[in-house]
Amino acid sequence: MTQQAPHPGALASPAVQGLERYVPGKPIEELEREYGVHDIIKLASNENPWGMSPMAMAAVKAALPDLWLYPDGGAHALKVALARHLGVPRECLTLGNGSNDLLMLLAEAFLTTAHSGLYSQYGFAIYPIVIRATGARCLVAPAHPPGTPMPYGHDLAALARALEPDTRLVFIANPNNPTGTWVGPGPLREFIAAVPDHALVVLDEAYLDYALLDGVPDSIDWVREFPRLVLLRTFSKAWGLAGLRLGYAVSHPEVADALDRVRPAFNVNSLAQAAGAAALGDVAHVEHVAAMTVAERRRVEAALRAMRVPFVPSATNFLLIEVGRQGGPEARDINEQLLRAGIIVRPVGGYGLPRHLRVSIGLPAHNDRFLAELARLLKAP
Ligand SMILES: Cc1ncc(COP(=O)(O)O)c(C=O)c1O
Repeated sequence: MTQQAPHPGALASPAVQGLERYVPGKPIEELEREYGVHDIIKLASNENPWGMSPMAMAAVKAALPDLWLYPDGGAHALKVALARHLGVPRECLTLGNGSNDLLMLLAEAFLTTAHSGLYSQYGFAIYPIVIRATGARCLVAPAHPPGTPMPYGHDLAALARALEPDTRLVFIANPNNPTGTWVGPGPLREFIAAVPDHALVVLDEAYLDYALLDGVPDSIDWVREFPRLVLLRTFSKAWGLAGLRLGYAVSHPEVADALDRVRPAFNVNSLAQAAGAAALGDVAHVEHVAAMTVAERRRVEAALRAMRVPFVPSATNFLLIEVGRQGGPEARDINEQLLRAGIIVRPVGGYGLPRHLRVSIGLPAHNDRFLAELARLLKAP
């Protein structure tokens, strides 16, 4: 009898074979195809429906004829603009194909099978993926329980306790996705200062532009103070460039140098570089978008309160809403009904939150449509 050849998938590393896939928000076209519905609104991926600055759009159009050329691998113009915008030396910057790219580069550069990476329960779903993909151990600290002021949010004391001698990376999202919760600057600074020298703290600030309006301060000055702190930021949210894929890390130059060694050549495309540099010249646009979004979020929060639908405190452009009811419809059913009504939100059962849905803040008309549909579904027998 001939021996059966192993399936090609079995040749992947054991770490990769054990990985759970990241499930992104359902694309509009997929819902159209699968459910035959039209006039769809997507409130599932925390995008910014007001879009990018007109200056960024003009820069993208101007860059189109040169797309036959490779991008500038060192992204000189964008780094100069970003360094000026942030008030940091260029050597502290690493650019990524979205900040997701930087999460992968950090894991690749700093984790091995002899190390561990740490994050909080209900932390952003990419953290366990990038940790596990390297074969490193994944440590999860318990989050604040329901019924506390920041339910499901990062518990810094629990994170500090969960650190082990082999821990190299600690991931903190502030504010966090999918919870929307945040930690204040005092406790966060204390936590960072107390982390032992064998670990880097990765402070993921994807939603900072919104959080600034809720009193979460800019942490850029901490990078000078803490050589083991890495800030991650993105142009995907308030900057409105999610489709172009652009994020960046601010770190000690030696950390940036390590990331640069594993960074794929040309990981940031020409259109993203042009748009990013131009967007930095129109900060007023981002501030305007963030202000409109937070005003809309407060309006949605008030409507949810009136409907007696509990939600988790948020300093972001989304809300984690508890729609599942004992003896009533489950979040899964509500999600299904919303899809049939052409409204895409994000189920978070995969995060261990089966009674919740995560809903991005959209344009006022979109939020109204979501609220009206939710009210109808929760009233239905
Ligand atoms: C907390 C957090 N970090 C990082 C990212 C990755 O964003 P991007 O790769 O688009 O920069 C996201 C996206 O949703 C996020 O919520």
